[in-house]
Amino acid sequence: MLALRELTLSHFRSHRIARLTLDGRPVAIHGRNGAGKTNILEAISMLSPGRGLRRATADEMIRRPEGVGWKVTATLQSLHQMHEVETWVEQGGARQVRIDDKSAPQVALGRIARMVWLVPVMDRLWVEGADGRRRFLDRMTMSFEPQHAVSVLTYEKAMRERNRLLKDGQRDGHWYDALEAQMARAAAEIVMNRREALSLLITAQAEAETAFPAAELSLIQPDEAELPDTETDLARAFSDSRPRDLLAGRTLIGPHRTDLAAIYSAKGVAARDCSTGEQKALLVSLILANSRALARDFGAPPILLLDEVAAHLDAGRRAALYDEVCALGAQAFMTGTGPELFAELGHRASHFEVSEADGSSRIDEVTI
Ligand SMILES: Nc1ncnc2c1ncn2[C@@H]1O[C@H](COP(=O)(O)OP(=O)(O)O)[C@@H](O)[C@H]1O
Ligand SMILES: [Mg+2]
Repeated sequence: MLALRELTLSHFRSHRIARLTLDGRPVAIHGRNGAGKTNILEAISMLSPGRGLRRATADEMIRRPEGVGWKVTATLQSLHQMHEVETWVEQGGARQVRIDDKSAPQVALGRIARMVWLVPVMDRLWVEGADGRRRFLDRMTMSFEPQHAVSVLTYEKAMRERNRLLKDGQRDGHWYDALEAQMARAAAEIVMNRREALSLLITAQAEAETAFPAAELSLIQPDEAELPDTETDLARAFSDSRPRDLLAGRTLIGPHRTDLAAIYSAKGVAARDCSTGEQKALLVSLILANSRALARDFGAPPILLLDEVAAHLDAGRRAALYDEVCALGAQAFMTGTGPELFAELGHRASHFEVSEADGSSRIDEVTI
C-alpha cells in the first residue's frame, strides 16, 4: 500500500490548520467553490518533487494575511514502511524537506511518494501546447523512475546555460563542449526513462479490461525530426545544431521538445480532435494505466490527486472510475462540489466536507 495515514496543513493557503486521519481508502472531498478543496490536493502534491499541481511558487502558497510560511506534514505508508515527511517554506526561503527527521533533497520524496494528478486545466491538455503534455508524461515517468526528476533538472539547468551563451552570440566552441556533454548524458537518461514509461503504459492498457478508452501513444519531435538516443549521438546532435541554435538564440533540438501524441484507438481519431468528454476519458485512462503498471512495477499504485474529476464524466463513467480506483486499492483524493457526486463510492471511501469559517477553511469528516 502507498497511502497518507495522517496529513496536517499549517498556514497553507486558505487552511490555517487542518488535520486528516486516513485509513488508505480513497478520499472524497466535497465543498462549495472556493472552500479550499484544491488547496488540500496542492498541499499533498508538495509531498512530491517539483512545484506541485498548480505550479505555484512556494511563496504563493503562504497563507495570507499572516505571511509567516507554510508547512505540510504527513505520515506516509510506503509498502511496509512508515515515513514521517515534512515540507515547509519560510517567507522568502526555499522549500525544505525532512524525511524521518533527516533533511533530504526534494527528489528523495519521489522515491517514497509516487504521485500522479489530474487537474481541470489539463482538460485542455490535448489541444494546447506540447509543454503540458510533456509535463504529464514526465510526471508519469517519475512515478516509475524517481531518478527521472534529477535527469530533467540537470538537463534543464545545463540547457539554460547553453541558451544564455546562444543569446549572447557566443561562437567559441569551447564554451559549449562541457555543457553539451552534460546535456547529452541527462538527455540519454530522459529518452530512456520516457520510452520505458511509455512501454509500461502501453502494456498496462493492452492487458486491462476497462470502461475507459485506450490510446495509441507515441513520442514525437517537432517537424517529425528524429531524436537520437545515445549519449554520443546526442552530444553530436547538440554540437551540429549550434549554427541553427545561434540564429534562434535557443536550443532547438533535444528532449525538452518532445511531445506526447495520442490517438483514441477505437475511433482512430487524434486526441486533439476528440470531444471534451472523450479527451478527459483518455486522461483518466492513462492515469489508470499508470496506476496498474506501477502496482506491478513498484508494488502499489501511486497516490492519485483527481481534482474535479467528475466534472466531464457521465454517471456511468464516474461509477466505472470509482470501481477501478477501488479495485486497484489506490488512495485517490477526489474533489467535487457536492456529496452526490461521490454517492456511488459509499463506504468504499472516506468522505470529507470542506467549508469556510472565520476566514479559514475547515475540514470535517462526514459519516455516511
Ligand atoms: N495564499 C493564500 N492565502 C489565503 N487564502 C488563499 C491563498 N491562496 C488562495 N487562497 C484562497 O483559497 C480559496 C480557493 O481555494 P481552492 O482550494 O482553490 O477552492 P476549491 O474548493 O474551489 O477548490 C480562495 O478563497 C482563495 O482566496
Ligand atoms: Mg478547486
